[in-house]
Amino acid sequence: MNNEKEFKIEKEREIKIEVATIENLKDIQDLNHQLCVKESIEFDPTVNPDYPFQKEGEEYFKERIANGFARIVIIDEKIVGYLVGGISGSADYRKIGKVAEAENMYVIEGYRSLGIGEKLFQNFFDWCKRNGVKRVRAVASAKNVRGIEFYKNRGLKEYDVVLEGEI
Ligand SMILES: CC(C)(COP(=O)(O)OP(=O)(O)OC[C@H]1O[C@@H](n2cnc3c(N)ncnc32)[C@H](O)[C@@H]1OP(=O)(O)O)[C@@H](O)C(=O)NCCC(=O)NCCS
Repeated sequence: MNNEKEFKIEKEREIKIEVATIENLKDIQDLNHQLCVKESIEFDPTVNPDYPFQKEGEEYFKERIANGFARIVIIDEKIVGYLVGGISGSADYRKIGKVAEAENMYVIEGYRSLGIGEKLFQNFFDWCKRNGVKRVRAVASAKNVRGIEFYKNRGLKEYDVVLEGEI
């Protein structure tokens, strides 16, 4: 138990969060692919695991790297996670200004529960504040209980419920 704790503390010391550059596009695409595979198998079969490598996906990630929020996590020179997000105006019928969305994040298995997600999210909050954003959102598959709990534990509350079905 002690060893495990020491290992985690040791690991925590080495967690580096870096601003992603276009050189990291492939790394982010690979991590997003892993996220989409997990989502499609465990939570939502409509998710397309090839999305990050398709034209639309690639354009989306390039845009976020250039103009939005894109961070990678490095431990021992290995990229082990990422968070991508952006800022948009809120719907016209709402009386709030800009909303930032943590659009997709992933920490590879074996590196979870070490505080990496927490650090990434804190980095995202700081970026939001620097950009004058007061409201943050995240969308998760309804079946992704761990992901939802992670967001709730960072202060986000259930807001919309999306209902969808085959006809
Ligand atoms: C959701 C996800 C990004 C969280 O990343 P993570 O690195 O495991 O997150 P953290 O380690 O910061 O936090 C996870 C829990 O471990 C706890 N934790 C943090 N540091 C810890 C440490 N040193 N030792 C033990 N536990 C720790 C945190 O308190 C947190 O629990 P809490 O939410 O009850 O506060 C990760 O689980 C993941 O990639 N999941 C699959 C993809 C996914 O669901 N993405 C989100 C939807 S798009």
